[in-house]
Amino acid sequence: MDPFRSLLLLSSLFSVAAPHSILQISPGSRRHGDRSAWKGDELYCDSWRFSVETNDAGIWTQVPERCVGFVREYMTGERYASDCGMVSNNSMSFAGGVKIAGDGKDAWIFDIDETLLSNLPYYAAHGFGSEVFDETAYNEWANLADAPAIPASLMLYNVLKRLKFKLILLTGRTEVQRNATAKNLLLAGYSNWERLILRGIDDVGKPALVYKSHKRAELEGEGYRIHGNSVELCSCDSVALSYGNRRQFSSLWA
Ligand SMILES: *[C@@H]1O[C@H](CO)[C@@H](O)[C@H](O)[C@H]1NC(C)=O
Ligand SMILES: *[C@@H]1O[C@H](CO)[C@@H](O)[C@H](O)[C@H]1NC(C)=O
Ligand SMILES: [Mg+2]
Repeated sequence: MDPFRSLLLLSSLFSVAAPHSILQISPGSRRHGDRSAWKGDELYCDSWRFSVETNDAGIWTQVPERCVGFVREYMTGERYASDCGMVSNNSMSFAGGVKIAGDGKDAWIFDIDETLLSNLPYYAAHGFGSEVFDETAYNEWANLADAPAIPASLMLYNVLKRLKFKLILLTGRTEVQRNATAKNLLLAGYSNWERLILRGIDDVGKPALVYKSHKRAELEGEGYRIHGNSVELCSCDSVALSYGNRRQFSSLWA
């Protein structure tokens, strides 16, 4: 039997819709000082990113000061776009090999933030992860329902829909955010999900790993066969890791 399969989905920040465009950020601002100093930071910061993505760095709260420019460059440049496309392509080729039984129980789970929806506009306005995460400000932003889709995710979502997977959205957001979340998803182009699962009163405060594992077990109890689980790889902010998505992925993948 195939073990539970979890596929990373990078949040792609490359082609965020025009109104949210990162081009609002001054293009020259990323290179302070001379080129060799920047190069030294680039090497260090690429290693930092690697250690975060492999979870070697463990819990962290802020992007190191010297890596803020790197993160901005990475998240808004073509590298992230390519990484994202790769994960989406991998997911699609895996999904194409799944036999759909036709009983409506073949499911694929998506996280929402930094998976279906990009939080880039928020992070662009908040120092690209250099600030400690401010949950209140973040929730206020999320409630505007203005987050753009991540294009590679939207493509994957629609391909899975055509393949007749049941798409289940499992998010760390809470029930009070249901309407704003659904509205945002629809505006961003997502439709026809099977279920949108948010944290209820009893789930608030549970680590993401516990909450999401529990929900997946409930779904399996209802007879769903979960073929894929798309979560962010590295949102390069403190949210993903403080919510434990990275660990969740690592342990499932092992
Ligand atoms: C993903 O697949 C598309 C379509 O085949 C291709 O154009 C693109 O280059 C692929 N991306 C990556 C990163 O492999
Ligand atoms: C969410 O939307 C439903 C249906 O439109 C409405 O009845 C409900 O009051 C809304 N809930 C909140 C918390 O806004
Ligand atoms: Mg998330």
